[in-house]
Amino acid sequence: MENLNTLASAVRQCALCPLSQTRTNAVPGEGPANAEVMFIGEGPGFNEDKQGRPFVGAAGQFLNELLQIAGFKRDEVYITNVVKCRPPGNRDPLPEEIQACARYLDRQIELINPKVIVTLGRFSMARWFPNEKISAVHGKAKRSGGRVIVAMFHPAAALHQQSLRATVEEDFRKLKDIVAEAQRKPEENPADKPPAADQAEQLSLF
Ligand code: URA
Ligand code: SF4
Repeated sequence: MENLNTLASAVRQCALCPLSQTRTNAVPGEGPANAEVMFIGEGPGFNEDKQGRPFVGAAGQFLNELLQIAGFKRDEVYITNVVKCRPPGNRDPLPEEIQACARYLDRQIELINPKVIVTLGRFSMARWFPNEKISAVHGKAKRSGGRVIVAMFHPAAALHQQSLRATVEEDFRKLKDIVAEAQRKPEENPADKPPAADQAEQLSLF
């Protein structure tokens, strides 16, 4: 696994968990190798499994709108998921599937070395905000392993629950400032410190 391309090839051939047996296409993720911001969703859905690309269905359409609100072009951020293969019927990924697939996500984070990681939904949130409730931490930033981590509601949750929509949009509006702040802090080089969830501290600024 030397770079993102070889990693993607490994993911497409992976049989480390049973999701390999039901997938059409694995979905490694997409975006530039030097992206400063990385978005991590839950797992591929129906359309993602068909196309082999992340966030291309209804939730993806909404994510595209949210990215625009935050001032990003979709092709300047990296987008991936906690599990790279679709759980059948879009069920929740199992702990053992998340664990089997973590090696790929870990390596993507290492290779891309983003300044900011945005978690979409509770499965990616759990890694940096253990035992926290998304209703309490959404839109908030914290430092972990030299990066800034921001927890967001999953875009699909806002599609299913109209009342969340304004909240999610407001959180993405704030993301713009959080990213600008992270980019202004060159003294915090993510490469200096390995990610350590237990050393995370709440950012006083946000
Ligand atoms: N939901 C996710 O969590 N990821 C996708 O790629 C699509 C929908
Ligand atoms: Fe491999 Fe991850 Fe797909 Fe499981 S979900 S088969 S670990 S790539």
